[in-house]
Amino acid sequence: MTDISRRCALITGAASLAAAGLPPSPALAAGAARPALPIPAEIRADAQGTIAFSASTGTRRFLPGRTTATYGYNGAFLGPALRLRRGQVVTVEFTNRLPEPTTVHWHGLIIPGKDDGGPHQAVASGGRWRVRLLIDQQAATLWFHPHFYPTTAAQVIKGLAGLLIIDDDDTIRLPLPSRWGIDDIPLIIQDRRFRRDGQFFERMNIIAVTSGYVGNVPLVNGVPYPEARTARGWLRLRLLDGSNARSYLLKASDDRSLYVIGSDGGLLESPVEMKQIVMNAGERFEVMVDGRSGTPFDLVALPFGAPIMRLPPFDAPVPLVTIRPDGADGAGQLPTSPAQLPRLPADLPAVSQELVMNMFRDQAGMMPLMKAGLTEMANSGRGNPAVIARVTSLIEDDPELSRAAQLSANGVNGKPFALGEPGFTAQRGEMLRWRISEGGDQMLHPVHIHGCQFRILSDRGQTPEAYRAGWKDIAPISAGGVSEILLRFPHPAGPDAPYMAHCHILEHEDSGMMAQFTVA
Ligand code: C2O
Ligand code: CU
Ligand code: CU
Repeated sequence: MTDISRRCALITGAASLAAAGLPPSPALAAGAARPALPIPAEIRADAQGTIAFSASTGTRRFLPGRTTATYGYNGAFLGPALRLRRGQVVTVEFTNRLPEPTTVHWHGLIIPGKDDGGPHQAVASGGRWRVRLLIDQQAATLWFHPHFYPTTAAQVIKGLAGLLIIDDDDTIRLPLPSRWGIDDIPLIIQDRRFRRDGQFFERMNIIAVTSGYVGNVPLVNGVPYPEARTARGWLRLRLLDGSNARSYLLKASDDRSLYVIGSDGGLLESPVEMKQIVMNAGERFEVMVDGRSGTPFDLVALPFGAPIMRLPPFDAPVPLVTIRPDGADGAGQLPTSPAQLPRLPADLPAVSQELVMNMFRDQAGMMPLMKAGLTEMANSGRGNPAVIARVTSLIEDDPELSRAAQLSANGVNGKPFALGEPGFTAQRGEMLRWRISEGGDQMLHPVHIHGCQFRILSDRGQTPEAYRAGWKDIAPISAGGVSEILLRFPHPAGPDAPYMAHCHILEHEDSGMMAQFTVA
């Protein structure tokens, strides 16, 4: 047994909840039945070409004996998978039954700014939003979530997020596993922290606007450490890092290969065989795994990222979900060439836009963590309960910032986001090259651009790894590294409905690390 598979045999969901300072769940006790992986319902347009859905409040039991107030789309937590087809024109009717305004942003969809669901398309409490979408992009696993400024982070924590899946003719002809929830398995990975009273912890304090949300209970499709019973055969896992801030270094507990066949905006030219992959907040990867032997395995998150992201239970390999491929035989196969990608031009355009992510309160956020001994503990490689307690108290007890302090904590190109300011303009239809970097902090920022799917030309100065070289809408930057992307905006975005360019750490986005731009 490898070290990791031994750990996974030992770590149960109960153990990771105990590490979160919570009593172990009787339901997760040894030998008891594990919770089943919930599969989001698929919804397609009706005969009139309409999809109607709503957001509302609800409650859910994530922890034994405690009820948590939630938000959800068509349910208590998360939402259905909207299933659309290339070439389709669909009318979406969204009803906001929440006690606050929200928006519905179609993350990764290539549509005009006025339909994008960004901060400018607020839907009041009790209000409706009707939008007509023309789907014209290749098959992909996208998602939708609120984008209301500056409360996106809080709304996503409560449960607002759903998958948006695009199918196309080319992909339907492939031998891919395609039975939803049987051999085509959506996995939305998130982390949460709970208060003593069972409610979600969330607080925009100095730690949140610098380090981002630090959860200590991993959820997959809204459940701690569920088990998926699947077909026996090749499986297609559609992974979404739906966390507010956390990046994951993922592997299979038994080291079986992860064949990456797709990234944010669609399928890759050929499967990329990996033992571990990194996923940052907002990113999607489609990964195939060989389940023909029927042997179960766990998807495991290895310790990764900033020291604060390695607090227990993330200081050791954490099993996120068990895949038990012991059902009826699956028919899917690993495709040799999932999709065709346009070749990158030999003559690249000159850089037309720079985006620098700024953290104006970096020191204020890092100093208390250093004083608490976090850096020292990280360097020593050994957990120290006193340090963990001090850092946990900073995360949870440090007071909420004033709204003004929150909104000016971070920025892009030297200034915090301001709704209604003109921003910059990008040329419509042209091949563009943008340069993304950060202003000297040591954080990882997954930078997301609306209105397009792009290609990463250089990933922090390096050639992107093969599994990150396809269609993307998020490019990570970190530790002084400069990334370049090649992009094109086919649709307009006017000053009343500009696109956003922002860090997908939602606490950064809600504290100024976002810029707006028009396309003309
Ligand atoms: Cu997924 Cu601008 O967001
Ligand atoms: Cu987006
Ligand atoms: Cu960031």
